[in-house]
Amino acid sequence: MLLYLLVPAAYLLGSISSAIIVCRLMGLPDPRTQGSNNPGATNVLRIGGRKAAAITLLGDALKGLIPMLVAHALHAAPLILALTAMAAFLGHLYPVFFRFQGGKGVATALGTQFGLYWPIGLSVALVWLFVAKVLKISSLAALVAMALAPLIVWWFWPAPELVIMQVLMSVWLFWRHRSNIANLLSGKEGKIRG
Ligand code: G3P
Repeated sequence: MLLYLLVPAAYLLGSISSAIIVCRLMGLPDPRTQGSNNPGATNVLRIGGRKAAAITLLGDALKGLIPMLVAHALHAAPLILALTAMAAFLGHLYPVFFRFQGGKGVATALGTQFGLYWPIGLSVALVWLFVAKVLKISSLAALVAMALAPLIVWWFWPAPELVIMQVLMSVWLFWRHRSNIANLLSGKEGKIRG
């Protein structure tokens, strides 16, 4: 019974926008109206600095991590794990509490990957960190890391449900980054500062 509630619960948790809440609590402008207009940690870094961005990143990652840990505690099968991860991710992208206008999903996807199996999350995070350190472009780091994520899942846990879920999540994440991709292609994408 609890397993059936897990997927909608993950969606509802994913729908809580850390960026919007952190900005409101810290007296910062709404991230949907500033910078890239994206309610995510990178944009909060632009608007409010490192502390606000770190809290946003942690909050968004926990939205992905917590449902996956609960799923493991309930001995969920790979299909339920896959649906739970996707529900948390889609909650962040299309939050019921914020008129279905959410973020791009990087931190929440990473949280689900850590929750699925921590070496998967760690591998994706290390790719992100490496690209971000070398090229200093947040979106590019996310795109490279999430492009490799299906391979990383397949390497550590080659269940078809999980690999297919990760392919869908990564494709969706690319779609949400289409303005960033256009900026990258035209050389206009900004570098990480702060
Ligand atoms: O997490 C989103 C990041 O990859 C890009 O964010 O604000 O530069 O569009 P932003």
